[in-house]
Amino acid sequence: MIRSAPQVIVHVVASPATGEPYDVRIGPGCADRLGDALRAHAPAFRYAVVADDVVARLHGERLVGRLRDEGLKADLFTFGSGESNKSRASWAALIDAMLARGIARDACVVAIGGGVTGDLAGFVAATYMRGIPYVQVPTTLLAMIDASVGGKTGIDVPAGKNLVGAFVQPRAVIADPLLLATLPDVHFRAGIAEAVKHGMIADAAYFEWITANAAALLDRDPAAIATLVRRSVEIKADVVAEDTLETARRATLNFGHTVAHALEHVTNFELIHGFAVALGMLAECRVGELLGVTAPETGQRLAGTLERLRLPVRLPVGTDPDRIVEATRFDKKARAGLTRCALVARVGGSARTESGDWTFDVSDPRLRAALDALPIALSQENTEV
Ligand SMILES: NC(=O)c1ccc[n+]([C@@H]2O[C@H](COP(=O)([O-])OP(=O)(O)OC[C@H]3O[C@@H](n4cnc5c(N)ncnc54)[C@H](O)[C@@H]3O)[C@@H](O)[C@H]2O)c1
Ligand SMILES: [Zn+2]
Repeated sequence: MIRSAPQVIVHVVASPATGEPYDVRIGPGCADRLGDALRAHAPAFRYAVVADDVVARLHGERLVGRLRDEGLKADLFTFGSGESNKSRASWAALIDAMLARGIARDACVVAIGGGVTGDLAGFVAATYMRGIPYVQVPTTLLAMIDASVGGKTGIDVPAGKNLVGAFVQPRAVIADPLLLATLPDVHFRAGIAEAVKHGMIADAAYFEWITANAAALLDRDPAAIATLVRRSVEIKADVVAEDTLETARRATLNFGHTVAHALEHVTNFELIHGFAVALGMLAECRVGELLGVTAPETGQRLAGTLERLRLPVRLPVGTDPDRIVEATRFDKKARAGLTRCALVARVGGSARTESGDWTFDVSDPRLRAALDALPIALSQENTEV
């Protein structure tokens, strides 16, 4: 019954500078038809399938077996799961393994996994023999609605996250919500935080829909998940189509992220990205309210929705607001010593400065005041929800 649910295709248009347009196929069971999708969108002599060790065991080996059964040449390349492996070392090891296996320019990379795999395998594809095509098969909610669309690939280096990379669009994205069945609960909820962000920046009705369907989403109702993935991909596709190189409107997708990245940094990445985004959006709503840019009560509405989704609304116990403020200066969005934030005008709409910019300069005292307005968790439990 679920498997017969219709497949939705969202067409993503990229700028000529960053690649051709491509389709995001969304539908329960569509990963089982991966071979057809590869033949249609990324015909190649051979497929280098990249997955982290967890996803390789859960899905990768099966999908590669299926491709081979269908007569396609496919090899599986794995690396250790987790953000710490989105590294130069993993990039080099994958490249060397592909070279040793005789993968040539007529091959295509298939990234099966979360955002770490998509970013890393995309960067491997971007650099392998000066670039070969790649296809994304996201297996986390975050990757399905965010990381797999938009063509940002890259790795982390000791100086910071995502500091080495390339803009290269995938040939296709195959988003199968059935692959989420094995995803741990925290990662599932973390992904919903990015969907809330999409509602906050672009679509008030979608924000209301997420709020009203919080219970169904947390129960992983397949129809609710399919709607969530489709609408979020549409919003992301719409924003990146206007601005693939992140010079202007794409910056709106960074709502909540200036503070989120700082929180990830000061908690040594113990706070996972989606949870940091939930708190970052709350802090940046408060910044906007203090600047008179964000309508009053926006943060309060957001907090109500986050609580229904069992996402954090309190800063982790023991986090020092001054360290958070300091950490925002390392963000790529910081310019001339001032922190920059993408803010919302209200639920469902991003804010612009008088000169038309999508990001706002925020002084340290203002940011500190916004952080001071957030409650602090009484114990670690309150942060981990
Ligand atoms: N390129 C972009 O535009 C973009 C956008 C947002 C985030 N990102 C990047 O994405 C990364 C975060 O992505 P993520 O949250 O997906 O992390 P992730 O890829 O590390 O996945 C999270 C964990 O879930 C496991 N996992 C993945 N799919 C699973 C499944 N179906 N069942 C069971 N376990 C599964 C993984 O092994 C991993 O341990 C960050 O590096 C971030 O920078 C990129
Ligand atoms: Zn994010």
